[in-house]
Amino acid sequence: MPQLSQKHLLGIKNATRKDLELIFETAAKFKEVINRPIKKVPSLRDITIANIFFENSTRTRLSFELAEKRLSADVINFSSSTSSVKKGETLLDTVNNILAMKVDMVVMRHSSPGAPHFLAKHIDANIVNAGDGTHEHPTQALLDTFSIQQKHGSLEGLKVAIIGDILHSRVAISNILALQRLGAEVMVCGPNTLLPKHITALGVKVELEIRKALEWCNVANILRIQLERQQIKYFPSLREYSLYYGVNKQLLDTLDKEITIMHPGPINRGVEINSDVADSGHSIILEQVENGVAVRMAVLYLLAGGGSS
Ligand code: CP
Repeated sequence: MPQLSQKHLLGIKNATRKDLELIFETAAKFKEVINRPIKKVPSLRDITIANIFFENSTRTRLSFELAEKRLSADVINFSSSTSSVKKGETLLDTVNNILAMKVDMVVMRHSSPGAPHFLAKHIDANIVNAGDGTHEHPTQALLDTFSIQQKHGSLEGLKVAIIGDILHSRVAISNILALQRLGAEVMVCGPNTLLPKHITALGVKVELEIRKALEWCNVANILRIQLERQQIKYFPSLREYSLYYGVNKQLLDTLDKEITIMHPGPINRGVEINSDVADSGHSIILEQVENGVAVRMAVLYLLAGGGSS
């Protein structure tokens, strides 16, 4: 039975191309399963998974929970806002208390970069990083690259532009690593203030003009402005950002080609993307969400050792 090279999924940084290909092959099979009338398989029966979220989430939390239930795992959910973290309990004490209830796997989102890596040094359970601060969001990158592969057949030689707030984005970093590992060319585009200073060290192209980025790419992955992570002003106003970096139908209609439009969500309609693009036939935003469940089923199944499906 093929296995992943790591016990945990902490980031794309340490995942091999073989790991990504194995996850995609497995996800394709699970995608068939979740489109059947009976969507459940017994693969993770007797496995208990804790989803511990110290930061807000809609897509990732629900997608993991659904993936776990489709695999017949027992699921417990923890949200820091309604927990004893509010009474001063540490991360390690919180997790150790959850593990004392015989939990096998932990899916964790935390606002501090490196929180799941810290945990991995102290506990035995498999850990999946569901987003750690501005660092990595590996399952988002996996579902994004899987969605591109499903749409375009292969990532080899494909040109992908990641547009928006790259500076505060864990999605951008994980996507860059996954896309390059699978043979795609990557460009980042946004205002200078929202591009990390040393981003070219990752081997990406940098473009400040959105029109040029759109003319270059086959796929545009449009990111949200992460106002909640911004302590200072990086641009004059959302109106101005939208004017210079918002993707709308009028702009796309001036290109002499069609491009695939992606967004990891949550969308700020009318800021980084207009409804006439987000809801258009070129958008695969809801396919990304559908594929997220299959990809997360694959990750959990493979980390658990890939038993019978
Ligand atoms: N894409 C993503 O991580 O969305 P949520 O924050 O809603 O989980």
